[in-house]
Amino acid sequence: MRLSLLSACFGLVSSALAHCPRSAATSNYNTTQWAPLPETAHGMTIPATGYLTQHLGGGAYAILNGEYQSWFLVSDEGVIVMDCPPLFGRNCMYAIGNVTDIPVTHFVYSHAHADHAHGAVYWADADVTFIAHELSKERIIDVLNHGSTPVPVPTVTFEHHMTLEVGNQTVELSYKGDNHAVGNIFIYAPQQKILALIDVVFPGWVPFGELGASEYIPGWTKAHDQILEYDFDWYIGGHVSRLGRREDVEIQKEYVMDLKQITIEAVAASTPLIAQITGPAAAANPENAWAMTSAYGEWLTDYCEGPMNKKWVGRLGGADVYARLNCYKMIEAVRLDWGYLGPAGLRS
Ligand SMILES: *[C@@H]1O[C@H](CO)[C@@H](O)[C@H](O)[C@H]1NC(C)=O
Ligand SMILES: *[C@@H]1O[C@H](CO)[C@@H](O)[C@H](O)[C@H]1NC(C)=O
Ligand SMILES: *[C@@H]1O[C@H](CO)[C@@H](O)[C@H](O)[C@H]1NC(C)=O
Repeated sequence: MRLSLLSACFGLVSSALAHCPRSAATSNYNTTQWAPLPETAHGMTIPATGYLTQHLGGGAYAILNGEYQSWFLVSDEGVIVMDCPPLFGRNCMYAIGNVTDIPVTHFVYSHAHADHAHGAVYWADADVTFIAHELSKERIIDVLNHGSTPVPVPTVTFEHHMTLEVGNQTVELSYKGDNHAVGNIFIYAPQQKILALIDVVFPGWVPFGELGASEYIPGWTKAHDQILEYDFDWYIGGHVSRLGRREDVEIQKEYVMDLKQITIEAVAASTPLIAQITGPAAAANPENAWAMTSAYGEWLTDYCEGPMNKKWVGRLGGADVYARLNCYKMIEAVRLDWGYLGPAGLRS
């Protein structure tokens, strides 16, 4: 997210193709003053070690560093680890080591994205069973492991549902279809009433840019209801500086519903105005279809940004920071996935 964007634009990735915001050289990232954060966006205070271990009862612990989250369950026969963000470094192991001497025996990948999975390398040579959805295994082999240090390939996979029992601990793994990424699973500890679904809800904050860099927005949207079908006391979303409660999921659902509604309205409002919206770009750039498409996207994004900021700045952290990227991501989903094509729809 933020770190990767900055490093891509300031030379850590030396490629002429690095994706940078318009005029990165003169942009004012460093000085833009965004709206003050609401109280709800403030999280746990992270100690000087750089990480916090939060006991959730019954041998369940969350690990937080202010930006990322993962968790583990201590059973009488072995420890089950759910993700280890690479930014934690060895702190995943230290957090576990400070709680128990029982060895890690199982590692569950929530999905095949490097920023949550890559810490699995710390157990590559240990006697650990690596578990993931079958589509995550495919992605690990075909994609993730081509980019950098390979993570252990899962040896246990499932298609719809799997119950993992280790000693006195139980974890229910369920796949309900593509949402943030294909293979992204619901991980539920029924004894402690903890539900993890990574990169869907961001307690106290709006999702980071492009709705948490999610792949399939209809599935990601539906996931909010699927989360609420569970009986949980704690929600673990993998990001921000505190865990979630039911209310956090309900609030983000409202944000997403607002976003969907305003973008559907934007597309409808654009239909009678399409000539005015794209005309100047077309006149200035003859034959350049992308100039027109881009002007149209900007218009829809403008339509969405104002009302979203009006309602959500002050209610969720970063609402203004990511308003445009989140609007645009929803605009694309509303048009292409849900089929609200407005001026680009069927001709009579
Ligand atoms: C942001 O601040 C850093 C550190 O002061 C500086 O090196 C960099 O040039 C600044 N970037 C921009 C875009 O102003
Ligand atoms: C399971 O056993 C571990 C290790 O003895 C203990 O810390 C934990 O509280 C137990 N959890 C449950 C749900 O019984
Ligand atoms: C306990 O945590 C500290 C601080 O993170 C770390 O230095 C130490 O190695 C940990 N102990 C174990 C046994 O993992």
